[in-house]
Amino acid sequence: MNKFSGNAHIECINPQCQAQYDVNETIFKCSKCGDLLDIKYNWNKIAVPAKMSDFGKRWASRNNALDFSGVWRFRELLNFCPDEHKVTLCEGQTILQKNDMLAEYLGIKKGRLHLQYEGLNPSGSFKDNGMAAAFSHAKMTGAKSCACASTGNTSAAVALYAHSIGIKCTVFIGSGRIAYGKLSQAMDYGAQTIQIRGDFDDCMKQVQSVCTKLNMYLLNSLNPFRLEGQKTIMYRIMEGLGWNVPDWIIVPGGNLGNSSAFGKAFAELKELGLINRVPRMAIINASGADTLAELVNKRGLKWNGGSVEEKIYRDYYAELTARNFSPHTCASAIEISRPVNLKKCLRAIDVCSGIVRAVPDEQIVDAKALIGKYGLGCEPASAATIAGLKVLLAEKIVRPDETVACVLTGHCLKDPTVTVEYHRDKKGLFSNPPIEANNDIDEIIRLMQ
Ligand code: F0G
Repeated sequence: MNKFSGNAHIECINPQCQAQYDVNETIFKCSKCGDLLDIKYNWNKIAVPAKMSDFGKRWASRNNALDFSGVWRFRELLNFCPDEHKVTLCEGQTILQKNDMLAEYLGIKKGRLHLQYEGLNPSGSFKDNGMAAAFSHAKMTGAKSCACASTGNTSAAVALYAHSIGIKCTVFIGSGRIAYGKLSQAMDYGAQTIQIRGDFDDCMKQVQSVCTKLNMYLLNSLNPFRLEGQKTIMYRIMEGLGWNVPDWIIVPGGNLGNSSAFGKAFAELKELGLINRVPRMAIINASGADTLAELVNKRGLKWNGGSVEEKIYRDYYAELTARNFSPHTCASAIEISRPVNLKKCLRAIDVCSGIVRAVPDEQIVDAKALIGKYGLGCEPASAATIAGLKVLLAEKIVRPDETVACVLTGHCLKDPTVTVEYHRDKKGLFSNPPIEANNDIDEIIRLMQ
């Protein structure tokens, strides 16, 4: 039963609770049972286009900022706020690059491998899709200040969107746990930057308490409005494939917001009859931060119709605490051991017949170098997708003739340190070190041979 008569409301994901809240509330966890929250739509009140390709017609009116935005172009599918509150910085002008050179290297059939380059967003990562939606909700509810915990990209995106609507912004990052490109953005966009001596999970815990105590608007992916914006990455992949669904979506897994959003996107499109099949999804952890792989593959955690066996992950987290574990990976964006969206991700795995793998740092940096050599480049976390795909091809889970879309979540300039060290210090299979030369033409030409 839905007690709200508008286009959308907030609802607890726990099927035993299903508490409902007005869309104008700012709550990020169910106040009845503490579970995660979803945005639910009254589809019969919304004029959803009859087919996905109808959204493509908005290219013709792209001088309208909402039609230009790669998020709001799909506004009927995230219809929770009136146009006057919608915030956009022209996010989502991203591309699906068909990459035959990389496909050939991996042994995939020509024309089947695609890289969704979310690094082209205004702050250089996929986060901007979510921020356009969440900041619209912040504006609609009159937020005066906001905060987030971050491994770097969230803080960059929050800082950018906060100054665009003129609200105060504080970001919490783990000391020494953030790539310089991202740290430089938070400072440059004017965020108050608090470096906590701890890791991302510590920051995540602190930011929730701070937001509650100081009544600040929380912008981590616990915020269900963020995930509404991130759904549009999937719509754009479909657009890049001529409005077709790929066989596989491959995405890195950190706090598990993306995977959760993608599962919701496909479940809704199926419910609306806008697609007739759902793609499979592979979520790739880094081996040094492999909570999801451990819980799903080794401990049997699953969605189970919403009755998630909480003891499984609670016991695991207690083990992590007992051995004072802190995650470590060169893919600092996904250096997370207690992902807040775990349950929603389990639901997405259920919807998309999902699969989880963990890949070591050496494979991540080699994959990153390949994406740079053959594509548009990306940051380390994003390259986990190609490293994961290689594993799944070897396991014959992904077949060479299947259509695959890997989500490259962040720009290659986000983390130049990892890139320079990989190449300069000859750390991997594809290192391309610079050559030192004296200021002498003969020597330069000799070294170029
Ligand atoms: N890729 C990049 C580049 C990221 O920045 C993140 C997350 C992920 C993948 C993982 O996505 O959390 O949806 O599973 N970065 C967050 C941050 C945690 O604070 O910037 P997820």
